[in-house]
Amino acid sequence: MANLILLGFMGAGKSVVGQRLAQRLGYRFLDTDKRIEAKAEKSISQIFAEYGELHFRRLERELVGKLTEINNAVIATGGGMAVDPDNLRRLKTLGRLVYLRAAAETILPRILNGHHRPLLFPTHPDRQLQKIKGLLIQREPYYNQADHIIDTSNLSVPETVGEVLKWWENRP
Ligand code: S3P
Repeated sequence: MANLILLGFMGAGKSVVGQRLAQRLGYRFLDTDKRIEAKAEKSISQIFAEYGELHFRRLERELVGKLTEINNAVIATGGGMAVDPDNLRRLKTLGRLVYLRAAAETILPRILNGHHRPLLFPTHPDRQLQKIKGLLIQREPYYNQADHIIDTSNLSVPETVGEVLKWWENRP
């Protein structure tokens, strides 16, 4: 079950870092949002708009439940996936968890033009930072249960990849 699982808020770099990690390790790459979109044949935004957030969360739970027999994969999770005790427990059985942390001030500019972040938009621009801060407070108790935490606020993508690899190659 040598899977490396990335947790963290939107804009933390899970997908881009995850893809590069997979290349470096010779692992396959799995992005849970992409899996959900492929299965539903709809974008995340369409799923939120047509069926609502609760339905999306059900799809996330279903997907985690089906991730068995997966090995040598880097898995990038959607920002809300680990924010559920059952999902988190299940993810822990699948591999080692790395939380890519980023400050709200770093996250906001990174996600401003993201089209698959219906949770955050349309929040009035003046309130977006507060909204991210509030969600981070709710979510950190879950994210912090990862095996390893890397603060990416001041790191480039290659630096973050390097930090994850350093830990992965020497993991206890
Ligand atoms: C969400 C994060 C998104 C996506 C959905 C909900 C969240 O994924 O799953 O919009 O609740 O934080 P990314 O973290 O890949 O942006």
